[in-house]
Amino acid sequence: SEAASGETEAAGNTGDVITVGFSQVGAESDWRTANSESMKSTFSTENGYNLIFDDAQQKQENQIAAIRNFIQQEVDYIVLAPVTESGWDTVLQEAKDAEIPVIIVDRMVNVSDDSLYAAWVGSNFKLEGQKACEWLKQYAAAKNMSEVNIVDIQGTIGASAQIGRTEALNEAVEANGWNLLAQQTGEFTQAKGQEVMESMLKQYDNINVVYCENDNEAFGAIEAIKAAGKTVGPDGDILVMSFDTTKQGITDTLSGDIIVNTECNPLHGPRVEQIIKQLQAGETPEKQAYVEEGIYAHGSDVASVSIDGTDYEVTEVTQDVV
Ligand code: AHR
Repeated sequence: SEAASGETEAAGNTGDVITVGFSQVGAESDWRTANSESMKSTFSTENGYNLIFDDAQQKQENQIAAIRNFIQQEVDYIVLAPVTESGWDTVLQEAKDAEIPVIIVDRMVNVSDDSLYAAWVGSNFKLEGQKACEWLKQYAAAKNMSEVNIVDIQGTIGASAQIGRTEALNEAVEANGWNLLAQQTGEFTQAKGQEVMESMLKQYDNINVVYCENDNEAFGAIEAIKAAGKTVGPDGDILVMSFDTTKQGITDTLSGDIIVNTECNPLHGPRVEQIIKQLQAGETPEKQAYVEEGIYAHGSDVASVSIDGTDYEVTEVTQDVV
């Protein structure tokens, strides 16, 4: 039902306008807000679209209900930003049976048959994590850090963004002999990030790095660290690492509250539109496309990171970047 699938805005399939049903994860972070805005401004009435936007409030069951709704309304395209990777086979098969093309955006789905979706566009989350960890490796060497005592505030468990970033950290911990003290989800929200950091600080007094899997968790973690009477930043007690490079995230990187911020680009509206245009023209879009993303740091201690033979330049955040 519509009630079960959260807020549904606009409805119906009208003549020659293209009706797009978009099942959005929720509104858990600043990144997500920017992503929703990108989709809404791209798929506007002025641009010839009828967008049915559904906010699933971070619940997969709401996303499944929304997709079923879209099928019933006979939309032209279904766009899904999946909360987690697994559990999509049945409902995507229903969309396929109804001959409605599905485009996956942002996080990935893990399905047995990849003909269940037409195309996917999003981030390489593992690569994001690898960039961040390689940066830390070089920074720790440049600063002669004798120990890396790190905690990980993970994203929503089972989301591609969590899986990739956590996996990269686990591998780096193993490879570099870092001390991973604790690992717990902060659900990609500021409130949970703060709560988790508070409890980690009570449990461990030697934390010198926190790996936050998005900016909002980092904002919460910074609050918790300061409230506990500790300091953040290059000369402080704890280095805060983050992902997303939201506006506030970059401002915090300029000040050093966040020491390194790996980009996750939310502006997927035009990319999804490109895919729809290709499908409209009877062309086959690229099945899986990764967007290019940068890495932004406080200070210039690390110039670039190299992952699997490719070099990525590290941008020092200055007033110009903000
Ligand atoms: O899937 C992208 C992630 O989801 C972003 O890093 C995070 O901020 C959002 O909630």
